[in-house]
Amino acid sequence: MTTPLRIAIAGLGTVGGGTLRILTHHGALLSARCGRPLEIVAVCSRDRRKDRGVDISRFRWVDDAVELARDPNVDVVVELIGGSDGVAKALVETALANGKSVVTANKALIAHHGLPIAALAEKSGSMLAIAAAVAGGIPIIKALRDGLAANKFRRVAGILNGTCNYILSTMWNTRKGFDVVLKEAQDLGYAEVEPSFDVDGIDTAHKLAILTSLAYGSPPAIDKVYVEGIRRVTIRDMEFASELGYAIKLLGISSLSERGLEQRVHPCMVPKDSPLASVPGVTNAIIAEGDAVGQVMFEGQGAGAGPTASSVVADIMDIARGVRYKPFTLPAAELTSVNFAPMEQLRCSYYLRLAVIDRPGVLAEVTDIFRRQHISMRSFLQHSHRPGETVQLVLTTHDTMESSMRAAVESIALLSSVVETPYMIRIENL
Ligand SMILES: NC(=O)c1ccc[n+]([C@@H]2O[C@H](COP(=O)([O-])OP(=O)(O)OC[C@H]3O[C@@H](n4cnc5c(N)ncnc54)[C@H](OP(=O)(O)O)[C@@H]3O)[C@@H](O)[C@H]2O)c1
Repeated sequence: MTTPLRIAIAGLGTVGGGTLRILTHHGALLSARCGRPLEIVAVCSRDRRKDRGVDISRFRWVDDAVELARDPNVDVVVELIGGSDGVAKALVETALANGKSVVTANKALIAHHGLPIAALAEKSGSMLAIAAAVAGGIPIIKALRDGLAANKFRRVAGILNGTCNYILSTMWNTRKGFDVVLKEAQDLGYAEVEPSFDVDGIDTAHKLAILTSLAYGSPPAIDKVYVEGIRRVTIRDMEFASELGYAIKLLGISSLSERGLEQRVHPCMVPKDSPLASVPGVTNAIIAEGDAVGQVMFEGQGAGAGPTASSVVADIMDIARGVRYKPFTLPAAELTSVNFAPMEQLRCSYYLRLAVIDRPGVLAEVTDIFRRQHISMRSFLQHSHRPGETVQLVLTTHDTMESSMRAAVESIALLSSVVETPYMIRIENL
């Protein structure tokens, strides 16, 4: 009989509970697939009495998660508590320092502390497995590291936050505003009571920083991600976008150009025939563009108990099989800091919506500001309205430098006929 892999799970919430259930219900199949029994030996959470959907009385319970990291009878610690610091970080560091492999879905921890933690894993000869940290059940981390390993990547981009995609899709399908749909999403459990982590783009930024590291061999650099959330997107923007042939999605985009490595998270207008435009509800989708493979898209459930636990268990199975790899593909010492392109140097087309008092000369004033900033206008839309009412003007541009566009928007906002802060959305050809 082969020796079992002895697993300790810390955190029995959404993902921890899902992991417990998969390991319990598919135990025999998984053991057969990796040629070795997978045995849960200990668990830890805050509340011992909570129902986890599985009888946990047969597993040893510990009150202090970090105790699992020092236990000689544990081979793998599965960290599913969450948070970039605190108990989760202490647990992961202690486990690795004690030569135990670690499986985690904790994108915040990896985005903020990925490099030193990966170095610690290498030093102790253990494995840090992070497949569940990005896009839940979609095996994008494994794909970048394994199946697409032959490629140099031009761009990795996608819908990485199901909550934002649900809100934007529902706004468009129901023509309800952001606040109403957010409230509904909270009632349905798709959005947190405190939604800023999702709707302000922070969660997407964490995931993007990890994908960038895998794709471009740089240490995760969360502080180098430009982040803008979806709070300002309106139904009006969606209607104008549709008229122009686009859909609005929150994307995380990482790309390499002569300006350097770009990492940005913001609402984007993508062409309606882009595979990303029709990605519905809470679904995630990621496009990887490699020099050999071309464009490949991955789509599926990016969160939730089952999908995320599916990736957690796949990592546990790798460890059971004796597979060993570096979390960011390259050894920690070879992850080299690259030149990050400042957001001000981004070049793309822009959509700009202005609410103005309709009086003669407004458009001339706006186009004069564009001319001074060397911005070339591509199209112009104005919907019919009654004389004297506020009118929405929409302008799109040819490729323009972000710094010019920002300067233009600042000047336009000061015009006496402009009655709301102008809103600009970047147009991404994906
Ligand atoms: N939810 C998703 O869909 C998803 C997707 C991808 C990645 N992730 C990541 O997976 C991780 C877990 O997320 P989750 O959604 O499963 O969170 P969750 O439902 O809030 O579960 C967190 C668990 O940690 C336990 N916990 C909290 N503080 C603890 C402490 N000091 N010591 C021991 N246990 C403690 C909680 O205990 P009690 O249950 O006893 O209160 C709970 O079981 C996070 O890093 C998250 O970013 C989640």
